[in-house]
Amino acid sequence: MPERTPYVAGNWKMWGSQAEARDLVAAIAPRVPAPAEVETAVCAPFTALATALEAAQGTDLAVLAQNMHQAQGGAFTGEVSAPMLTELGVQGVVLGHSERRQFFGETDRALQEKVPAALEAGLRPILCVGETEEENEAGETQRKLRQQVQEDLNGLAPQHLAEVVIAYEPIWAIGTGKTATAEQAQEACAFVRALVGDKSKEAAAAVRILYGGSVKPANAAGLMAQEDIDGALVGGASLEAESFLAIVEAAKGG
Ligand code: PGA
Repeated sequence: MPERTPYVAGNWKMWGSQAEARDLVAAIAPRVPAPAEVETAVCAPFTALATALEAAQGTDLAVLAQNMHQAQGGAFTGEVSAPMLTELGVQGVVLGHSERRQFFGETDRALQEKVPAALEAGLRPILCVGETEEENEAGETQRKLRQQVQEDLNGLAPQHLAEVVIAYEPIWAIGTGKTATAEQAQEACAFVRALVGDKSKEAAAAVRILYGGSVKPANAAGLMAQEDIDGALVGGASLEAESFLAIVEAAKGG
């Protein structure tokens, strides 16, 4: 089985003035490990990308966006395309975060186009999937994950599957302080890997699958020690340098 390099990304969401972005990146970037050990990234709002990139220059911290449009350009007021992001130097993009699905109408149909559009432009996508609390309680987690993984990755040739990072984020665990247990998270991430395996066995062995949802320094090591959890997508705990770096440190043992 190929060695999968751990990946830890901080999702700032709608946080980060220029000054805040500069200070946080300046505190984190010089202290991240080499990417061969743990790959690290921060996902900044569009307005803070240039500042974050400048502050991260010459370090191993990648800077990612939190959304993009699937088209290269055109009459899509308020949207930003993949080539616009790569021109800035952005290295990747979060796609299908549950907040975008829930509050901004992001659909699996659009994601089917966004994932290949990101890769074609040279951006690494972090595709988020996960079930709601009701779906979880109704025993619908696997059905939901199957639908999202199959539909969102449908536009991708099998040889490109492993270039995507997938984040399993149970919606009931995001920003709530309720983390999935390491066993629950492992079970779901193993299921996501099996779904990728239905498309390509090689890609399933190589694809990085992250857990997200109330990841903190105290629970990070236990989650990332699980066989099918290759890292973390961190919200709240990524807004403070020491807690983000503690989670990155925990990934080394995963
Ligand atoms: P959280 O957010 O760590 O604050 O729960 C995770 C996410 O939404 O990616």
